[in-house]
Amino acid sequence: MVKLANNPTSLTKGWSGIIEAYRPYLPVNETTPVVTLLEGNTPLIPVPQIAAQIGRQVQVYVKYDGLNPTGSFKDRGMTMAISKAKEAGAQAVICASTGNTSAAAAAYARRCGMRALVIIPDGYVALGKLAQALLYGAEVIAIDGNFDEALTVVKQLAENYPITLVNSLNPYRLEGQKTAAFEVVDILGDAPDWLCVPVGNAGNISAYWMGFCQYHQVGKCQKLPKMMGFQAAGSAPLIAGHPISSPNTVATAIRIGNPANWDKAIATQESSQGEFNAVTDAEILEAYQLLASREGIFCEPASAASVAGLLKCRDQVPSGSTVVCVLTGNGLKDPDAAIKYSDNSVKAGIAPNLEVVADLVGF
Ligand code: F0G
Repeated sequence: MVKLANNPTSLTKGWSGIIEAYRPYLPVNETTPVVTLLEGNTPLIPVPQIAAQIGRQVQVYVKYDGLNPTGSFKDRGMTMAISKAKEAGAQAVICASTGNTSAAAAAYARRCGMRALVIIPDGYVALGKLAQALLYGAEVIAIDGNFDEALTVVKQLAENYPITLVNSLNPYRLEGQKTAAFEVVDILGDAPDWLCVPVGNAGNISAYWMGFCQYHQVGKCQKLPKMMGFQAAGSAPLIAGHPISSPNTVATAIRIGNPANWDKAIATQESSQGEFNAVTDAEILEAYQLLASREGIFCEPASAASVAGLLKCRDQVPSGSTVVCVLTGNGLKDPDAAIKYSDNSVKAGIAPNLEVVADLVGF
């Protein structure tokens, strides 16, 4: 009988999670307890139908980070934040969340026996994310307020009590998330010309930029991408230039009016000669449907903002360039949105009869 080790890394074909894969680039040492669900190593998938809409021999890929263990890019940051919290002896972590951070925090914290406290805006967290947080065993508090108000409360709690904050203000989160940039370069052999990212708190766009810059410094890539950040039009403080007090969008994951990483976002945009642009809910939903029905890729609405943004800015894409759009979360996170916004529907109430069914499908 084959004896399987307790360490899950020995059960995978060489992939041990982002901390082991990129250890020299991360602030960990041999005594850091690695709390991992083998996150990372997500596919970079060509999307030819979307590329065809741009033309000019542009290569377009999506970095499908919805295939992480809890279904979003947050796992990259959370393996770092929770490992470092464990190393420091923390017994409880806390976050404010539009859903994905809470799912990831809950999974990683519970895996190493910590309490996971999560504060969410009541009524604005997609069903799948809430289901995850509950089943992973988080202590979930829904406030009558938006994400920005939830973040204010958790910052105060973390300042006053022995609880570690694991929102993207925690620097280890961005350290973990930068590994997505490493993976993109490891596959493409260089950085892309454009990187399109949905932006809420602006942690992820800042983390990608850190990753590309770090790889550039050590000669792993020759160029640096233009960082293109996209916010939902109803929640676009970085485009407005000031916080939005009542943000709104169908893309609840990025329904954020006062990004926690505002200064980093501006620095990223300036040093990469990138741009922030707004995409409307209609544009987001069009890209969401296009990705699923033409490319076979099911992401959540917020993630589709990166593709919506690329399509909106298509005339600016230089001929012959390589573009990566980040798909931050899995479509299964938000089944309500999928059903509500699909222009497809179930033909129901049909008799279980050959002729009837054959006729319905046009034979
Ligand atoms: N896409 C998804 C699916 C997200 O869940 C988030 C953020 C973003 C994009 C934006 O990333 O904040 O780094 O700019 N979700 C946070 C949460 C706010 O609580 O899950 P960002």
